[in-house]
Amino acid sequence: MKIIGINASQRNNGNSYQLLKSALEGAKGESNGLIETKVLQLADFEIKPCAAHYSGLHEFKNWGCGKKPYKCILKDDFEEVFQRMIDADGIIIAAPLYYPVPAKLVALMERLMAIVYFAKKADKNYVWPLTGKPFGAMATSYEDSNILVLKILRKFGFIARMYLVREAKNKVFSVDAKGGVEKNPKSLGEAKKLGSLVAKILIKRKERAKKKREI
Ligand SMILES: Cc1cc2nc3c(=O)[nH]c(=O)nc-3n(C[C@H](O)[C@H](O)[C@H](O)COP(=O)(O)O)c2cc1C
Repeated sequence: MKIIGINASQRNNGNSYQLLKSALEGAKGESNGLIETKVLQLADFEIKPCAAHYSGLHEFKNWGCGKKPYKCILKDDFEEVFQRMIDADGIIIAAPLYYPVPAKLVALMERLMAIVYFAKKADKNYVWPLTGKPFGAMATSYEDSNILVLKILRKFGFIARMYLVREAKNKVFSVDAKGGVEKNPKSLGEAKKLGSLVAKILIKRKERAKKKREI
């Protein structure tokens, strides 16, 4: 099983990366060698904004990602990032507050949500490949609250039909590293917990599937 950590910052090795490292350590700690992890740094990829190719100007015409094979027709690294998300069993995104979030993350979310929305509109039988994947959200800032960043990430997880990681009493669990990891070292422990929650879901699902096969 594989968990991918997506660093949405334009800085490759800053706070978001530290949070991801901690989360992925937490996941590995739970997994007894069953889970491999990978960090993907959005700064290394070219992702253009959605160009709204799905329709004509005044009516829905089903082209671009609204037409079979429901792929984005822009040429850049989006397809590679999407494929890496598809290949992963669990996804964690860490994003800094850029008021509100880095433009490349916005571009990624726009393009993913355009596919899931317009493909489903055009074809009820379209199978969205991120469905049900456990999804964890983390945010970091210099000094301000990250509520806005986490709202955006959670909403994205919901629209992308992933499963938002939860703690006790079914409460969605995400990490707010307000002030960055140096000023807020407790956030690294929370990131570790988030990673372990993602891993636990995957392990539980694997055990359930094994039991089903044995019946
Ligand atoms: C364009 C931009 C806007 C930012 N806006 C804010 C802000 O409004 N409030 C804040 O506390 N930090 C803000 N920051 C700082 C980053 O959120 C903060 O340094 C964060 O920890 C950086 O994460 P990173 O180390 O993963 O890049 C901003 C940074 C950038 C580049």
